[in-house]
Amino acid sequence: AAIEKGGYDHFMLKEIFEQPQTIFDSLRGRLDAEQKHITLSGVDKIKDKLMEANRIIIVACGTSWHAGLLAEYVIEELCRINVEVEYASEFRYRNPIITDKDVIIAISQSGETADTLVALENAKKQGATIFGLVNVVGSSIARLSDAGAYTHAGPEIGVASTKAFTAQLAVLYLIALKVARDKQTIDQTLFNKLLADLAKVPQLVHDILQEQDAAIKEIANKYAEARDFLYLGRGFNFPIALEGALKLKEISYIHAEGYPAAEMKHGPIALVDENLPVVFVATKDSYHEKIVSNIQEIKARKGQVIAVISQGDNVVAGLADDVMVVPQVHEVIAPLLSVIPLQLLSYYIGVNRGLDVDKPRNLAKSVTVE
Ligand code: G6P
Repeated sequence: AAIEKGGYDHFMLKEIFEQPQTIFDSLRGRLDAEQKHITLSGVDKIKDKLMEANRIIIVACGTSWHAGLLAEYVIEELCRINVEVEYASEFRYRNPIITDKDVIIAISQSGETADTLVALENAKKQGATIFGLVNVVGSSIARLSDAGAYTHAGPEIGVASTKAFTAQLAVLYLIALKVARDKQTIDQTLFNKLLADLAKVPQLVHDILQEQDAAIKEIANKYAEARDFLYLGRGFNFPIALEGALKLKEISYIHAEGYPAAEMKHGPIALVDENLPVVFVATKDSYHEKIVSNIQEIKARKGQVIAVISQGDNVVAGLADDVMVVPQVHEVIAPLLSVIPLQLLSYYIGVNRGLDVDKPRNLAKSVTVE
């Protein structure tokens, strides 16, 4: 087993550190930043459906659902198509309205999650077109799909998803960019910028891992005794706040809640005192000033602030107790970087607490029964 872990203490850490390669693999042969072109045969296969789609419905569970939530923000922004994101377990039982003008994107690492699979079977019977975004080749969801794209993250052993999540995001960006270009909902300049930033991500993730690992381990040790954590983010970073909180819960058994930063005033702020660490996903974007004022509100109530920030952001660095730094890219792409420190934070807190991070209690890698 030590050999399988490639010198790492756990599969989770190995898989976190594999991400420069796995993200590269998910883009390889698909993104051509020089020719300014995206090749995705699965998208071509259902191009007519996508061009005419009333809406896209994304169906998933767990971490894959978080990838879906980010996809909603990205696809609506870039493609101007209405997107709904559904928990598969709810979608399958609540008699949703589905027509043959709907395209469903199913997101699943394993391709075997029972709720997702049955939700898709139902939607297919009602005429929807199914596009599968799946990691495991030949899995049930991949076989049921009308078209799809594999994420190419390789086998994921750690129960809490890391590299499969970033591969899902990478391919979702490709899908959104390709559709946006085909529909002409973004101009060539923005398309080129986003393509160029996406192509840089594998190297930038490598840099984050090299430069931040030791600092994040120290931060983890400082906060490992906390009883609760709050994770806050806005816009494109809101799904990352949810994913950060889920990762911490899964690995450390610390109660953690993810929330839209501004919505905290409607509840979570009541929990803030000197014992509550609040993680802000606060990279520089168009509403940066808004999140800065949310951070000030937490500091005014003596909360401890840990922030994921863009390189050179002295404002948030000056307000926060601890920072985890990522390079600055376009705000649409930024989540693919800001999630990396949060994975490491959860990992090191779990290890500090002496827990089995690869196989957390009560969790299954793939939930194949209801
Ligand atoms: C389980 C796993 C999670 C995963 C979720 C959805 O809860 O522990 O890591 O995100 O299932 O799985 P899927 O294979 O459909 O992405």
